Amino acid sequence: MSSHIAHRMEGFSPFYVMELLQRAKQLEAEGREIIHMEIGEPDLATPKSIIEAGLKKIQTGDIKYTPAAGLPELRKKIAEFYYDRYSLVIDPKRIFITPGASGAFLLALGVTLNPGEEILMSDPCYPCNNNFVRFFGGNTCFVNVNASTEYQLTAELIKKHWQHNSRGVLIASPSNPTGTLISEQELTKSISVTQELGGSFFSDEIYHGLVYNKQANSALQYSEEVFVINSFSKYFAMTGWRVGWLVVPEEYIDPVERLAQNIFISTPTHSQYAAIAAFSKENILELETRKQEFEKRRDFLYTHLLRLGFEIAVKPEGAFYLYARCSRFTDDSFQFAKDLLEQEGVAVTPGKDFGNNESNYYIRFAYTASIAKMAVAIKKIERFICQ
Ligand SMILES: Cc1ncc(COP(=O)(O)O)c(C=O)c1O
Repeated sequence: MSSHIAHRMEGFSPFYVMELLQRAKQLEAEGREIIHMEIGEPDLATPKSIIEAGLKKIQTGDIKYTPAAGLPELRKKIAEFYYDRYSLVIDPKRIFITPGASGAFLLALGVTLNPGEEILMSDPCYPCNNNFVRFFGGNTCFVNVNASTEYQLTAELIKKHWQHNSRGVLIASPSNPTGTLISEQELTKSISVTQELGGSFFSDEIYHGLVYNKQANSALQYSEEVFVINSFSKYFAMTGWRVGWLVVPEEYIDPVERLAQNIFISTPTHSQYAAIAAFSKENILELETRKQEFEKRRDFLYTHLLRLGFEIAVKPEGAFYLYARCSRFTDDSFQFAKDLLEQEGVAVTPGKDFGNNESNYYIRFAYTASIAKMAVAIKKIERFICQ
């Protein structure tokens, strides 16, 4: 039978780290111990009170569809969260519950992007973004960024790269893979410039809960006309529950609702009930303690990687990643990652997964492992590079 795979699939890049992960699993099955520093999800379990709330709902057996926009109580809780964290009053009607930030991206781009239009984003950035754009027939305009702008887009860069068919700008702050934040001044200017150019501004704020020693600024503080993507995956440690949210400008409520009704019907019901429990005072206290642990891990890993000769031009202020230049050791970071896994059993993510901007010189280290485990990893990395 001839294959009818759609042409759009040709450009869909795989996750290169999956190859490493598969090999790591194989090695583990053979009895090797692997230290995982490649995985972009918290190693700590979902907090108990969240699990209990999800279980309680499951036990009723009443796991029916919810409204496409999500449970009203959860939308209200998220609105309250914006008030508590950013002193912002957001109408819950503008908040849509989605299957993770991934679902939020689908809705946001689905209602704004026409085939052939372009979205500007930084290189390096989270790899799925480009594939979401492609999914809707759009193109990505990658803008190379470096330490001079904290690896973030700037208003200047947006102006410079804007074309007649540009439709919007997507930023993530803190960024994956660099963990760096956009400054308040640059965020405001970038939103204004994008809007003056007639574009939409998409702000991925999935790592906002994991910002150390400062408060991240939400794009919603500067404009009601932005799309904000967020999730329970990272700060709330709920990756597999598949629940996130999208805040939309007022005039997009109706199209977003129609799209959500059609492509998801609703976000998993028990996960939404669990997410309501995520906002309890006790739970937030627990998450803040975990955040302190992540900060300690960042400091530990940052210090040791620099000592070993990796270069990290900007100390990241958030997320759980360090994007380290390893040009002293290799000009092929993918091969470096493969060899490090084979020889020392340490799994990391090659820069190639995040774009083409000198990515062969970079490795992303995720500090989603305990300090004790990372200390062992550091010894192994040291032995690997000194051989
Ligand atoms: C920057 C960024 N945005 C979005 C996502 C998708 O997250 P979710 O699990 O909420 O779909 C990730 C996941 O790693 C991410 O790093």
